[in-house]
Amino acid sequence: MADDGIRRRDFINVAAVAAAGAGGVVVLYPLISQMAPSADVLAESSTEIDTSTIQPGQAIKAVFRKQPLFVRRLTPQEIAAANAVNVGSLRDPQTLQERTKEGHEDMLITMGVCTHLGCVPLGAAEGEVKGEFGGYFCPCHGSHYDTAARIRKGPAPTNLEVPEYEFTSDTVVRVG
Ligand code: FES
Repeated sequence: MADDGIRRRDFINVAAVAAAGAGGVVVLYPLISQMAPSADVLAESSTEIDTSTIQPGQAIKAVFRKQPLFVRRLTPQEIAAANAVNVGSLRDPQTLQERTKEGHEDMLITMGVCTHLGCVPLGAAEGEVKGEFGGYFCPCHGSHYDTAARIRKGPAPTNLEVPEYEFTSDTVVRVG
């Protein structure tokens, strides 16, 4: 009789843990699915990027060290918006000039990895929402990055990372 009672409690405990686990899967799936970069993002690509076909206001996704890389040519309006910000008020204070190369301030190159928990922000493909500040928007927990990819709102602690890179010609960039 006592054994029956113990077995019944064990069954209830196991069932409760299983149900919690299933709930966890349901809750986590959308997050994991957003965190997994799509096949085109993961496709092999060189770290050399020809920027000549990127029009002002356009961004492309490339790959650097198996992670998404955003290469964006800013419009004059986007540059003006980035320069109009009071840098001292930013969570991660950096000017646009500090995040780009001299003579190429219109070319913004950042990792496409949200600094909160690593999702891929939106805004680098045609028609994707860019968020309140016109740069990138992370749909996982709502981080908004501005036109210099600086964090402006939401939980991300820092700006999108600018990797090491150099221009090897007027239009070709070598990242890394
Ligand atoms: Fe981007 Fe959380 S991973 S806001």
